[in-house]
Amino acid sequence: MVHQTISYRNLFVISIVAVFFTWGFSSCYNDNEEDLYPGTIACDTTNITYAGTVAPILQINCNGCHNTVVQQSGIITDNYSDLQTIINNGSFKGAINHLGGFSPMPKDGGKLSDCDLKQINIWLDSGSPNN
Ligand code: HEC
Repeated sequence: MVHQTISYRNLFVISIVAVFFTWGFSSCYNDNEEDLYPGTIACDTTNITYAGTVAPILQINCNGCHNTVVQQSGIITDNYSDLQTIINNGSFKGAINHLGGFSPMPKDGGKLSDCDLKQINIWLDSGSPNN
């Protein structure tokens, strides 16, 4: 009888320890913002550059229709100097932000994500440097 009581208690202690071990390891494993708060991943608005930030967004969303071969409406978005043309006449900012008086872009593709827009607008407001 006495022996049985002790072994049950040992079993209990062992399982508590096991639970804490598992919990300890899995909480480390899941400890990153993206897993814990899906959908609220911070938008990185620092170190925004043409080459590292803007060009990749345009590559995915715009260049298919606006490159040197396929120039919808005579517009080219796949290089810095041609992009300057639509930046200078205001149509780039108007089109991506869906401002009145401009064709909303990407055409038939909804709108760029809030983060993409925020990043591009920061770059535009800083004078759209070729960096
Ligand atoms: C599916 C093809 C397609 C995609 C993708 C696309 N465009 Fe366009 N874009 C067009 C066409 C076609 C026009 C001519 C106007 C119209 O038909 O609405 C146009 C016009 C424009 C204009 C002129 C708007 C105006 O009112 O003067 C700008 C600026 C522009 N696009 C920029 C972009 C940018 C920036 C992207 C990506 C965010 C993009 N486009 C994605 C097809 C596209």
